[in-house]
Amino acid sequence: MGDWLDKRIPWRETVRKHLTEYYAPKNFNIWYVFGALSILMLVVQIVSGIFLTMNYKPDAERAFASVEYIMRDVQWGWLIRYIHSTGASFFFIVVYLHMFRALIYGSYRAPRELIWILGMLIFLALMAEAFMGYLLPWGQTSFWGAQVIVNLFSTIPGIGEWLSVTIRGDYAISDVTLNRFFALHVAAIPLFIIVLVFLHIIALHQVGSNNPDGVEIKEQKDSNSGLPLDGIPFHPYYTVKDTFCAVVFLCLFAAVVFFAPEMGGFFLEYPNFEPANPLKTPEHIAPVWYFTPYYAILRAVPPFLGTQVWGVLAMGLSIVLFFFLPWLDGGLVRSIRYRGWLYKSALLVFVVSFVGLGVLGALPPSAGRQLSAQIFSVMYFGFIILMPFYTKMDKVQTPPTRVR
Ligand code: HEM
Repeated sequence: MGDWLDKRIPWRETVRKHLTEYYAPKNFNIWYVFGALSILMLVVQIVSGIFLTMNYKPDAERAFASVEYIMRDVQWGWLIRYIHSTGASFFFIVVYLHMFRALIYGSYRAPRELIWILGMLIFLALMAEAFMGYLLPWGQTSFWGAQVIVNLFSTIPGIGEWLSVTIRGDYAISDVTLNRFFALHVAAIPLFIIVLVFLHIIALHQVGSNNPDGVEIKEQKDSNSGLPLDGIPFHPYYTVKDTFCAVVFLCLFAAVVFFAPEMGGFFLEYPNFEPANPLKTPEHIAPVWYFTPYYAILRAVPPFLGTQVWGVLAMGLSIVLFFFLPWLDGGLVRSIRYRGWLYKSALLVFVVSFVGLGVLGALPPSAGRQLSAQIFSVMYFGFIILMPFYTKMDKVQTPPTRVR
């Protein structure tokens, strides 16, 4: 059977090339598990999403009730929905940690720029996916959150009005919007994400993984076998390690799904237990926690020259600038282990600003909070914009030639 298949599809060569003879650095630590966990979360979201779609109704008159029906009447419906809603938050936790790993070990730097760019595209697609999915339960935060975000596009000079009407398919968030968001959420964007993840991994296997020492393992090969001296086959070493970590991770995930699926209003926001009402604007609208840092940047910028486009621009830039990280980093070493105090302090400033903005974005606005958000935004942008300078000025240590 194996031979029959192999003559028709090169499965043996693929397994060899990408698993049993794919040599990965032997010093991977816990930070290197989040890529595999991201794949796991992608699968969890797709499978639970398929089952939700079997009972969900993308119709403004029936959507909210169909979610209640899933929660109360469909067998195991509550479990499927909680897996999907908790899964969205866990997906972002895992992806944020995965991205942070790239920052600490300089994984975005040459020759891995394309892996990084594909990763950033995945991140944008993931944000669009989460945003559109959030409209589907048709609750108050679904409706008003979408209203706020789509209105942002109308601030863009010239094409703004046209763009926001095109996204909504209407002059306000309506049944038409719900239908197109549903189509994009269940079909178009997931397909796009799958293709991007596939390319992300192909690009990774082309150049090989970085590691916590930032050492290129391909540069030190055994003279007889030609294999990297510091490499070990991905299978069985890392398949076993990733499986173990996946089991621990799923225990944590299950604990939240079963005991705290709402997570105090952070994973499922309380106003969303009320059906969407276009005539009743909630007093305070905050996006889900994984969007709050960007929302805080948006609110930090006051209107200027009669337009709010500057806040939208700042929010857009806060994500787009990250695409250029591989070319902004002028440091001589990759890993934080051999960087000097300048890079370490800059990274700390970034983490503090990102968390600070995240907290502020979830709170109702006030003058004091706006000032804090402005300070954090300056810190956030300072980390990226000043990177060419502080990475060059940084006093680095000479990294080893072999992994430690
Ligand atoms: C659905 C989301 C994603 C999936 C499934 C995914 C999957 C993976 C996997 C399996 C690896 C190899 C294992 C590892 O190094 O952890 C990897 C590596 C990498 N990913 Fe992702 N990824 C995703 C999103 C992202 C994002 C959003 C970024 C950054 C913007 C990113 C940047 C990278 C980089 C730079 C590497 C190479 C790391 C190294 O060699 O040190 N990924 N990804």
